[in-house]
Amino acid sequence: MKVLVIGNGGREHAIAWKLAQSAKVSEVLVAPGNAGTAGEPKVRNVPIAVTDFDGLVELAKREHVALTIVGPEIPLVGGVVDRFEQHGLKCFGPRAAGAQLEGSKAFTKEFLSRHKIPTAAYRAFTDFAAARDYVRTLTPPVVIKADGLAAGKGVIIAATLADAEATLDRVLRQGAFGAAGTKVVIEDFLRGEEASFIAVVDGTRVVPLASSQDHKTRDDGDRGPNTGGMGAYSPAPVVTPAVHDRVMREIMLPTVRGLMADGIHYRGFLYAGLMIDDAGRPFVIEFNCRLGDPETQPILFRLRTELADVCLSCFDGTLGVKPIDWDPRATVGVVMASGGYPDAYDTGKAITGLDNATGSDVKVFHAGTKLEGGRVVTDGGRVLCVVGTGDSVRAASEAAYAGVSKITWDGGFYRTDIGYRAIQREEAS
Ligand code: AMP
Ligand code: GLY
Repeated sequence: MKVLVIGNGGREHAIAWKLAQSAKVSEVLVAPGNAGTAGEPKVRNVPIAVTDFDGLVELAKREHVALTIVGPEIPLVGGVVDRFEQHGLKCFGPRAAGAQLEGSKAFTKEFLSRHKIPTAAYRAFTDFAAARDYVRTLTPPVVIKADGLAAGKGVIIAATLADAEATLDRVLRQGAFGAAGTKVVIEDFLRGEEASFIAVVDGTRVVPLASSQDHKTRDDGDRGPNTGGMGAYSPAPVVTPAVHDRVMREIMLPTVRGLMADGIHYRGFLYAGLMIDDAGRPFVIEFNCRLGDPETQPILFRLRTELADVCLSCFDGTLGVKPIDWDPRATVGVVMASGGYPDAYDTGKAITGLDNATGSDVKVFHAGTKLEGGRVVTDGGRVLCVVGTGDSVRAASEAAYAGVSKITWDGGFYRTDIGYRAIQREEAS
């Protein structure tokens, strides 16, 4: 069968690489893909944008694609799955109605409180003066979120009330996030350790993937500005078996039941960004309607079951009949980024050392790369995710950083401490 992957990031490279390993998959098409997917056996890039729904449907029909997997949130929120379904095509991901869980923070907060699913207390505002008056009643830090999609940059944690007011002014009065920020959610600050909990959902059943944790900030020690993610690892030791059970019982199952009760059929990956407090209680920080990037790269490296089978089981009622099988070893993915990211950065820098970095315990996934005259050059903020595996998170991290050390380009940088919390836990136990 042929499978189509929509997207061009590191997540989509990992999805395409995993799919292509299956004997059942004759070819993986990636629209539009990157230099990494271009170089994978059995994988072909097709230059169609993720928002060109007509072009994508036409491609899927022309190539007799049996299954399409949508990587990024923008086409999901825009209704790409609804469009594929209108043409009788199997497309893995939630319809636009379900994708609101990521597309609107106000929708999600209202959903969570109505279904009594644990999350930070909040209020939503469109009016600056009302928001400012509310903020003046709070004790900092104050969490302010643009309602809509803002490429991971729409969350501001204000350390003082003055900062919070200035943020509200920028977002609600000056339109810093455009249409995504005409409404804001202001919520209580949660303390604890974060984890990413990603599950496969077929409308009624929920099967979790391996746990993971990402590092969202740019600098070592989890400091500096927020980014799309500077690295991730799997499993996440903060998700103990007891925490795992609570997340399923208090968050994932009630969420899918709540969606059903609200008349929303949700098929696809469901990603809960969680805060786990010191007592092991999980709270929802956010939902994503897709796999995480970079979490997917270390997660899929550990997946032994065929990815196409897992997705197809959500169409024929067999999700969960066979357990998903994982490599017990740990994985760590280190993102290499362009100098300046998450602010302005240059592109078009030639990358060297890619071949030397790869080995049996290291895989280099491409994100912002393209081919230019036969050379791989940078083409985005997050450029690569180098995944290493080993018997512990420490060993996996050493493998990943050995790979990273072989790769260079002008201005590239990376964090040197991906996985440090898990390594501390390993070493404490
Ligand atoms: P989000 O885009 O909603 O995942 O938020 C980005 C990051 O902001 C999260 O990964 C957290 O580190 C932080 N964050 C968001 N909401 C809260 C909150 N209510 N309390 C503490 N930290 C938060
Ligand atoms: N790594 C966070 C995300 O994919 O949203």
